[in-house]
Amino acid sequence: SQDGQQSGKRVLLAKPRGYCAGVDRAVVTVEKVLEKYGPPVYVRKEIVHNRHVVENLRERGVIFVEEVSEVPEGARVVFSAHGVSPAVHQEAADRDLRTIDATCPLVTKVHKEVNRFDREDYDILLIGHEGHEEVEGTAGEAPDNVQLVDTAEDVDKVEVRDPSKVVWLSQTTLSVDETMERVDQLRGRFPHLADPPSDDICYATSNRQVAVKAMAAECDLVLVVGSTNSSNSKRLVEVALQAGASAAYLIDYPSEVDEAWLDGVRTVGVTSGASVPDVLVMELLDWLAERGWSDVDEVTTANEKISFALPRELRDSSPVR
Ligand code: F3S
Repeated sequence: SQDGQQSGKRVLLAKPRGYCAGVDRAVVTVEKVLEKYGPPVYVRKEIVHNRHVVENLRERGVIFVEEVSEVPEGARVVFSAHGVSPAVHQEAADRDLRTIDATCPLVTKVHKEVNRFDREDYDILLIGHEGHEEVEGTAGEAPDNVQLVDTAEDVDKVEVRDPSKVVWLSQTTLSVDETMERVDQLRGRFPHLADPPSDDICYATSNRQVAVKAMAAECDLVLVVGSTNSSNSKRLVEVALQAGASAAYLIDYPSEVDEAWLDGVRTVGVTSGASVPDVLVMELLDWLAERGWSDVDEVTTANEKISFALPRELRDSSPVR
């Protein structure tokens, strides 16, 4: 636009951003359950940590509950992308619930690692954020053998039975850099600390961090579309600041942008968390264009092609009756 060219206003749009394969699968799972069985459909916890997605599904007849004890006996319940502990599966079975598990396969992978190291009698140090649903589910695979390490102070509190049999695992949506710091601190205490068999921080989390890093130093302001309870979205704000963005904020909707943030700004970086539908990013781009930021350059650091099959119960493609 004229306005944009004269003032040097531009937008850098990170790619990859937004929906990951696990979120896409979880949201489609709930939509298919709605289609196949009709409302109400019960979902334990927010299916994915995004306000817009959750509100939209609620309007279409989804009832979100905190615990399976709130679901009527015999009803159908979907487990969220973040995963659940065996105790939750058991409670659902005890209540005769029909369960459909939308846990991301990359979270399930970490659950299996916990099982394996627990069987081999390791002490498991799980790096993750206290209180996050994923961590509760993962730790619940071996509650007596998993210790959560969130802050640097937690590192000092860890106590193990045998320092030669200790492994670290992690939540899938952490800051890659911060996690490696935590691992270094742990290794300082336990030189024999074993690494996970493969990365626990998922491809989507690390790709979105690489993309925002690539453009952050050029940005006077970075806007991350995502909800405040979304771990990977919050990490994008931190990573942008660490990588040199002058300012960075997390917003669900353009209406949350404080126009004062734009004072003196030329380059605005835009990205979004793994639970964010791209329509929300497009709304933000429209909003910025109305204010003179209409020149948009996409900054691509990876092309993602991964997708996951739906849960078994929903793979049948026969028409819905
Ligand atoms: Fe799965 Fe990573 Fe998305 S663990 S739900 S692919 S953010």
